[in-house]
Amino acid sequence: MSTTEAPRVDGARLWESLQRYGRIGATPDGGVTRPIFSVGEREARARLVADCHALGLQVRVDAAANVVATRPGAELALPAILLGSHLDSVPNGGRYDGALGVLCALEALRTLVQHDITTRHPVRLISFTGEEATPYGTSTFGSRAVSGRLTDVAANRLPDGRTVREALAACGGDWDRIAEALDELGPVAFFLEAHIEQGRRLEEAGQALAVVSAVCGIYRQRVAFAGEAGHAGTVAMGERRDALRAAARFVLAVGELPGTVAAADPAATATVGYLEVAPNSPNVIPGAVTAVTDLRSGDPAMLAALVAGAASAAADAGAREGVRVSVGTVLDQAPVVFDRGVRLALAAAVREVGGDGRELSSGAGHDAVHLGAVAPAGMLFVRCAGGVSHNPAESITPEDAALAADALLRTILTLDA
Ligand code: HGY
Ligand code: MN
Ligand code: MN
Repeated sequence: MSTTEAPRVDGARLWESLQRYGRIGATPDGGVTRPIFSVGEREARARLVADCHALGLQVRVDAAANVVATRPGAELALPAILLGSHLDSVPNGGRYDGALGVLCALEALRTLVQHDITTRHPVRLISFTGEEATPYGTSTFGSRAVSGRLTDVAANRLPDGRTVREALAACGGDWDRIAEALDELGPVAFFLEAHIEQGRRLEEAGQALAVVSAVCGIYRQRVAFAGEAGHAGTVAMGERRDALRAAARFVLAVGELPGTVAAADPAATATVGYLEVAPNSPNVIPGAVTAVTDLRSGDPAMLAALVAGAASAAADAGAREGVRVSVGTVLDQAPVVFDRGVRLALAAAVREVGGDGRELSSGAGHDAVHLGAVAPAGMLFVRCAGGVSHNPAESITPEDAALAADALLRTILTLDA
């Protein structure tokens, strides 16, 4: 079918789904808490399985607990057009980060079914397990599993004491078969992901949609400061080895790195968003602190400068406070430029639904980064109010969501042809 005669998706149905999934793991201020392997993520996954069954799709849960649902195509030998995103969230995050991409994919499939459109390729929805970062190393868990990139995190412990292996099993996955996730997925022709922009550029430009050109590289370090715990009232100030003082110096120094060692990339960022303080007691000198950094740049040389800069800032901070320091890698994800053919197909679809087809780069990581290693991949960005994300106030309009699903559906039909 030519995309000019493609049907429009049902925007009201899509919006209803977005709100319905937004009630799973809901927080009092309108956000959601659905971290990987949580009750909320499991409930969202179960809802999706039920919705896909109701649509008559072939549904399965793979070794990484990804939900995979397929509508067969007319030509049995063809690889699948794969689409999706994630249903997990950061703690008290928004309703649309991830869920929008899964539910736009579901709406595109519902529209194909409703209008009885047979594609040549199978069309396959995937909801990836645990895209968001955690201190126990599971970020982009499901998409790294299906691209053969998951490192061994099986024995890492969740805050509730379970290992990743145990928590995965409780969600229907199986660590012992994780290496099979890629084969289980089957051949992929293209991967498409719709996602909120998490920035203000679309809003400022008065555009609902953009095609994502590239995603920055992300590097995360676990930095351990080992000092000495002691009595807060009796150990003289000059005799302390306070791990939190060292970590505090480190946090401030990391924030300076983008403007100094990576000044050539104005989009470079460096954050310490996670600290564990032991024993974390008001009257005890902090004996040990673990920090996790998040360093980003689209330029590999700038990213390397941030990584080296953070390591040396940690060493300096430790030396100043007489605290031992060790640095390990949690994540090393290179920048990715998306496939040109997929970008062109997405841009044409965006123009068909009234947009200007512009491209934007991404400072946020996405599952599509890893799928790019499996098949030509591409992403659509959707305008979100004020660029607010990873925050319960995250907000989009029903009209923009429908345009995203429309553009996704048209891209499927173009690539299918
Ligand atoms: O961390 C990220 O960039 C993404 O939101 N997971
Ligand atoms: Mn996110
Ligand atoms: Mn996301």
